[in-house]
Amino acid sequence: MAELDWSSLGFKYRQTNRIIVSCFKDGEWSQPVASDDFDFHFSAFAGVFHYANSCFEGLKAFRGVDGKVRIFRPDENAKRIQRSGSHLDMAVPSEELFLDMCVRCVKENIEFLPPYGYGASMYLRPVLIGMNPQLGIASSKEVIFAVMCAPVGTYSGAKILTPATAVIARNYDRAAPNGTGQFKLSANYATSLHPYNMAHRQGFGELLFLDPSTHTKIDEFGSSNFLAIKGNSYVTPLSDSVLPSITNKTLQAVAADFGMKVEKRAVPVEELAEFDEVNACGTAVVITPVCKVFDKQRLEDEKAVKVYEIPSGDECGKVSRKLYDRIRAIQDGREEDTHGWNLILD
Ligand code: PLP
Ligand code: COI
Repeated sequence: MAELDWSSLGFKYRQTNRIIVSCFKDGEWSQPVASDDFDFHFSAFAGVFHYANSCFEGLKAFRGVDGKVRIFRPDENAKRIQRSGSHLDMAVPSEELFLDMCVRCVKENIEFLPPYGYGASMYLRPVLIGMNPQLGIASSKEVIFAVMCAPVGTYSGAKILTPATAVIARNYDRAAPNGTGQFKLSANYATSLHPYNMAHRQGFGELLFLDPSTHTKIDEFGSSNFLAIKGNSYVTPLSDSVLPSITNKTLQAVAADFGMKVEKRAVPVEELAEFDEVNACGTAVVITPVCKVFDKQRLEDEKAVKVYEIPSGDECGKVSRKLYDRIRAIQDGREEDTHGWNLILD
């Protein structure tokens, strides 16, 4: 077992034992290898360096209360990376290869899988990278598919379910209308780096993006989807510039199981004044409550034109906590996985 303080891992790079790598060349994927060399060696002309021929995934493995290892919904991540890679017109791994390499990554790094009881997990990061040399704008013919991992705690580094502030930056978009927001492309994250850095310097925890066509509706956070609770409703934006979050999909099913009404629809910004609870949701952030949303005309402006104070305030809202508890209990093997979401390792 690695010598780590499992209770304060945060979300950052840590060297583990091995990464799992397969290469697509001459029309086929090579047999995956477990490598302790974390450096890739390929051309400075590779498409990834110039044209961002790259996409990735994020999923988690958990050590259960029963000692078993569970990977949460990896089949969904496999399908999503296939959609992302196909949008880049590059070769994509089969679902079988994706699952095999994720399982192998967990096994090769098992001493970095946090023990049960710390609220921590092993984050798996599959990446698809275009590696052949090229000069003109083109899709990659040769691709590396790698799965690596890191033990993680909360994304912000704060205690679980600590509410965060968020800022709407109307003069920055994460995605373009008819763009790539619905795919998990590396390029989408490059777009948000500058406003993210500014928001963090200003002390905000999260950046909330609006729909890029009209800037009147909520899209999603830079790291995660938006979900709100209004009475007995679970409200989440329906937008083609938002990443289809597996966590959000899961929580919608859990909310429906709880007898809540699930509303996937356009969410006008002003509706922030009507929500009981607001959260970011995603693999890295799980559920992170939002206590205040600052609406700025320009992120550079000192003052927000409006500040929405979410009634749940400095606490995680009751409904959000119930959703959080249920999903975490399923991941930890404390409650029955009635939907069959976990892949249990032998
Ligand atoms: N939206 C964005 C922009 C993300 O980066 C993520 C993280 O993967 C999500 C949403 C949440 O997706 P998921 O729940 O599948 O991790
Ligand atoms: C994830 O939640 O898996 C993501 O990719 C988001 C990123 C901020 C780490």
